[in-house]
Amino acid sequence: MTRSVPPELLARLRAARRITALTGSGVSAESGIPTFRDALTGLWSRFRPEELATPEAFARNPRLVWDWYAARRAAVRAAAPNAGHRALARLQILVPHFTLITQNVDGLHQRAGSRDVIELHGSIARVRCAREGTIVERWSQGDDVPRCASCGAFLRPDVVWFGEMLPQAATEAAVAAARACDLFLSVGTSNLVQPAASLPWLAAAHGATVVVVNPSMEGQPEGPGIFRLTGPAGEILPRLVQALEPGAPAVPRSPG
Ligand code: OAD
Repeated sequence: MTRSVPPELLARLRAARRITALTGSGVSAESGIPTFRDALTGLWSRFRPEELATPEAFARNPRLVWDWYAARRAAVRAAAPNAGHRALARLQILVPHFTLITQNVDGLHQRAGSRDVIELHGSIARVRCAREGTIVERWSQGDDVPRCASCGAFLRPDVVWFGEMLPQAATEAAVAAARACDLFLSVGTSNLVQPAASLPWLAAAHGATVVVVNPSMEGQPEGPGIFRLTGPAGEILPRLVQALEPGAPAVPRSPG
């Protein structure tokens, strides 16, 4: 595990005026929420994500999909933001221009105090009519899948399922923030799903320093200008943010 922030990175972090961070489900792992690809635990372990998080799965068995999301919603409600979420919320205060993009649907960034979070994959806290797309504010969790009061169609979580389009405004804002930043943080994502996976490369192509925070570097960006900090977000991010706090010690000179 990388114990200290490399001095070169520290200097770039302090010089950065625009920081963009992208998070995936790894940032919520330390809140006790299983990562996306580990999520099918316990009762749900016999299903594959493609059997639950797709429009076809919902059409085939709305009750099964609804119940899975109800279980995830309950797990999120019982969880609390961790030190990684809090560090990103603090970063927003310390850096002149900061944008947070997340693939997570759990709302833990917002609960930690992050503002204007770009949610690429929606939010399980919201529910919408499966036919009309209207967000429904009030619905009750009964034995059956609730229906839209206006058209009678099933309600579904306001998340992006496999094979569905990402919200256009969120995608455009994420691309713009990746292009414009001078430092890009990629935290707790396996980088398997587009377009999120291309954002660090887009930032690098526009001259940004890229910092990867993940306990596993398998499949993570690598190359010149890319710093890989191996370890859990809840340990690494607070260390990065601490270096930006007013009164933090000066950047140590590199030997020679
Ligand atoms: P994954 O489950 O694919 O990857 C989780 C990542 O978090 C892995 O790289 C882990 O090594 C890392 N990780 C685990 N614990 C961590 C910790 N404590 N700190 C930091 N990192 C940690 O989840 P995502 O990358 O979020 O999309 O998956 C991306 C998208 O794939 C999901 O949003 C979902 C799925 O398709 C949709 O549902 C549309």
